[in-house]
Amino acid sequence: VSKELKLKITPLKMKRDRLLLLNQILLPRVVEWVECFDAESVSDSIKKMHVRGAPAIGIAAAYGFYLGVKKIVDNGEKVTPAKLNNIKTKLDKARPTAVNLSWATSLMLESALNYIEKSSLQNKKDMNSLQLLMELYNKAVSIHEDDAVRCLQMSERGADYIVKKRSLKKYRIMTHCNAGALATGGIGTALGLIRVLQQRGLVEMVYSCETRPYLQGARLTAYELDKEKIPVTLIADSMAAVLMQKKMIDFIIVGADRITKNGDAANKIGTYSHSVNAKLHKIPFYVIAPKSTLDNSITKGDEIIIENRDSSELLEFNGVAHAAKVKVLNYSFDVTPRENIEAIFFEDEVI
Ligand code: MRU
Repeated sequence: VSKELKLKITPLKMKRDRLLLLNQILLPRVVEWVECFDAESVSDSIKKMHVRGAPAIGIAAAYGFYLGVKKIVDNGEKVTPAKLNNIKTKLDKARPTAVNLSWATSLMLESALNYIEKSSLQNKKDMNSLQLLMELYNKAVSIHEDDAVRCLQMSERGADYIVKKRSLKKYRIMTHCNAGALATGGIGTALGLIRVLQQRGLVEMVYSCETRPYLQGARLTAYELDKEKIPVTLIADSMAAVLMQKKMIDFIIVGADRITKNGDAANKIGTYSHSVNAKLHKIPFYVIAPKSTLDNSITKGDEIIIENRDSSELLEFNGVAHAAKVKVLNYSFDVTPRENIEAIFFEDEVI
């Protein structure tokens, strides 16, 4: 894998016993880190979208789980399965659509329960809480580091596929939302693949859709690509179709928050419309995600819970009201049916 793909951006870091989250609400105007000390504050930050993007949410939740258990130990209380389940529920509730969140907390819970069971099998009177914390810390770090490796693998796999499928001197690419370093533990998924193509000298232009209403495309993707000196042009979401019609796009690549057994993929609201337009204009539409985004417990996309976010995201901008005070519908995600997706790039296979 590409060792030169060094990152200039990271959405989160662990400093002693605090989780620092790059406040993505304020980017790119202000670079500020939010400090979380326990599971409650991590859950709150995920809800408020200080940290966002499916894999990054999962990683933050893994550290949040560790901090939750640490709080119990610091308070001199006993760590019990019921308390561990409470921590998981608290974190899982923060955002419902990205499955990476409950995937990560399930792994953390399993580690903790295994440790407790091991201690009781060894007839230890008192479980060694510090040892448990160390196990959980290491587990969270491995979830984090593992995601970085997966990002590289899927990005190279996807780039190879695209180049083999249709070799062009350079590609004009469209993406939606932010599926970059800011959204993962590594180089990103959609932006990871774009980084790999850029490294190979194959990117002519990335068209970043603004991504109403939270503006992940305008604020985060444009910022991230510009920082890496990857050519980027910002467009309003409503311009996407006309660029396809004018044959200005070679392929579209997006991330995912949950992929069901049949290959339907939930992603940021607006993704579905791009896929419909792509199909009409015969433009390849690709999804790229780690296997932690695959939810085999759900057969098809209409079973995915879609987050409905606060009306203020549409009625206000930076706290200033700019819309008439009417009812708002603010679905945060939509589902692209498998028949609109040419291929899904995972870290270990292309489907
Ligand atoms: O609401 P967000 O910003 O968390 O939504 C993020 C997306 O929809 C991303 O495309 C998805 O999580 C993939 S991130 C690698």
